Amino acid sequence: MRLDVVSIFPGYLAPLDLSLVGKARASGLLDVRVHDLRRWTHDRHHTVDDTPYGGGAGMVMKPEPWGEALDEITASGEPDTAPVLVVPTPSGEPLTQRVAAELSAEPWLLFACGRYEGIDQRVMDHARTRMRVREVSIGDYVLNGGEVAALVVTEAVVRLLPGFMGNPASLTEESHGDEGLLEYPVYTKPPSWRGLDVPEVLFSGNHARIAAWRRARALERTVERRPDLLHRSRRLTLDTLGEVA
Ligand code: ADE
Repeated sequence: MRLDVVSIFPGYLAPLDLSLVGKARASGLLDVRVHDLRRWTHDRHHTVDDTPYGGGAGMVMKPEPWGEALDEITASGEPDTAPVLVVPTPSGEPLTQRVAAELSAEPWLLFACGRYEGIDQRVMDHARTRMRVREVSIGDYVLNGGEVAALVVTEAVVRLLPGFMGNPASLTEESHGDEGLLEYPVYTKPPSWRGLDVPEVLFSGNHARIAAWRRARALERTVERRPDLLHRSRRLTLDTLGEVA
């Protein structure tokens, strides 16, 4: 997978060299290219922002440097290929495991990290005429810019690439997976620690009992912490209907 990231703070993307994402890069699974937006400015001050039309607080990122950056980067690919443009913004569609899975199936992602009050809307509108564009939010809070969000999206996506995880089974049972429930609590050795014991059932060797216990704990957690997720859990809905019937 090829990943291009455009930002006025390329240093923010340094974590892409670290950890598993860095390893995926080193192994050739990932081709990451970080670009400084100011490279596509032409004035002495390398201006990337201006005041908003219609008034209001803050500054808006000018379309020209973005247009040139996207033109040059998209032209650097194979003929007849275009990246998916990912624009982190608090007004985007929510990043979910499904969105991460969809993006992980793409050969090329181009992240446009905005700062200030955002990027002139015409940049996205124009890009839509030549490539797919996804404006994505990582949560209902406002960050200072898209860089940290781009790191979040990247990590969620890259760990789904075939050959990335040492143990692909650990992808199948986690929170926000197909089942739509939060993950059950997990334990390892020692069996007793600071007076707290690992639940007895986990020593039983009875796989059906363990699976039932885990599902009950996952449900309990989801009801308590994320009741909004429950309608999405198909099995739960069917089980509940079964109980009601
Ligand atoms: N940029 C600023 N806040 C953001 C958010 N919550 N998600 C994605 N990008 C952002």
